[in-house]
Amino acid sequence: MSQEPRRKFMFLMIVILFIIIFAGAFLTKASAAGKGNAEAGKKVYDAKCTLCHGAAGKGDGPAGASLNPKATNFTDKEKMKKPDDELFKSISDGVKGTSMIGYAGSTSEADRWNLVAYIRSLSK
Ligand code: HEC
Repeated sequence: MSQEPRRKFMFLMIVILFIIIFAGAFLTKASAAGKGNAEAGKKVYDAKCTLCHGAAGKGDGPAGASLNPKATNFTDKEKMKKPDDELFKSISDGVKGTSMIGYAGSTSEADRWNLVAYIRSLSK
């Protein structure tokens, strides 16, 4: 191979490499945005969260009303402006100074993302 075609070949390989890297980054981002399955999340929610956040997520569960601060109302669009990873963090680690405990030890990571998807769906 003479010098010229070899250069062209190298250039082409580098271009292809960049396309692969960018496509990979794009796909990872796209899948992160759609993490979690709301239907699966509802099952976990009904079992673990309704006591405080209420069956419809309005923060009016049997134990929710007497809390200070009250359990979050997930149907409140203003409160639900937070990004998914913040909600995920609250579910995983709890909210300091409130009766919201962390569920990282008792609920799988996939289920915590499912919960995010479900409570997100309540304000739509
Ligand atoms: C013992 C009552 C209780 C239970 C059970 C409970 N929560 Fe909470 N939750 C709270 C309280 C109280 C807060 C704090 C509200 C505040 O900060 O104003 C809270 C806050 C949150 C937040 C943060 C909202 C925000 O504004 O950032 C999320 C998300 C959340 N809860 C999800 C859940 C999920 C999902 C479950 C079930 C796995 C659950 N909670 C179970 C009482 C509870």
